[in-house]
Amino acid sequence: MVSIKSKREIDFMRYAGHINYLTHEELKKYIKPGIKTEELDQIAHDFIIKNECIPSCLGYEGFPKSICISINDEVVHGIPGKRKIKNGDIVSIDFCVRYKGYESDSARTYIVGAVSEEVKSLVENTQEALKIGLSKVKSGAKIGDISHAIEEFAHSKGLSVVEDLVGHGIGTDMHEDPEIPNYGPSGVGVTLKSGMTIAIEPMLTLGKKEVCLTDQDDWVIVTEDESPSAHFEHTVLVTDDGYEILTGE
Ligand code: MF3
Ligand code: CO
Repeated sequence: MVSIKSKREIDFMRYAGHINYLTHEELKKYIKPGIKTEELDQIAHDFIIKNECIPSCLGYEGFPKSICISINDEVVHGIPGKRKIKNGDIVSIDFCVRYKGYESDSARTYIVGAVSEEVKSLVENTQEALKIGLSKVKSGAKIGDISHAIEEFAHSKGLSVVEDLVGHGIGTDMHEDPEIPNYGPSGVGVTLKSGMTIAIEPMLTLGKKEVCLTDQDDWVIVTEDESPSAHFEHTVLVTDDGYEILTGE
């Protein structure tokens, strides 16, 4: 079921989204070669708690850490640990922040040091794909309009769209209806209405679109061909004439 949020619920989501944004801004200062991913996790965990919110990835379906850190060919759900960030990595950071029972979800990919032009364009174009998806959001539009715009843009840049993972509605649950694929025809799917809250999250790759689990754990999802992958995500409120980004500045 797709829910419409009340003014009160939206205020809680705004605060959760704001702390999500500020946590990303805090982490940004530390994303440098040599830092261990578990150190970044600790920084985010402490920052979220200090701001009276809950790092809701922690314990979600057994996920062991507060944020997901996925490097290079890892698409999503990387588990922070002893691995150190190196020059030339692309680092995706994705997490949810909960306030008074309401979720926010946002992801960014960082370029660390020197990367190839190709990898740089992957990251920049994935960020652009999110913006293009967002530009379709307003009351009366269809989910398919977002999906199609993202796919068309990705393909125009020679990038593949991961199809096994999708955006989603969000509210009291991290994942609510409707699903928001990053591919497919326009003009189909659920009609957006003011007061819906959704998370749009293109995941693009430089190689093929196929992804799989590894044998290291039950979480991290990698590209099958080991090509690099980038991920950007915002939680947004649908409005009459567009949208409000809840996890932005
Ligand atoms: N943004 C991620 C998702 O929608 C966060 C999941 S938390 C985790 O899948 F615990 F599953 F990692
Ligand atoms: Co999400």
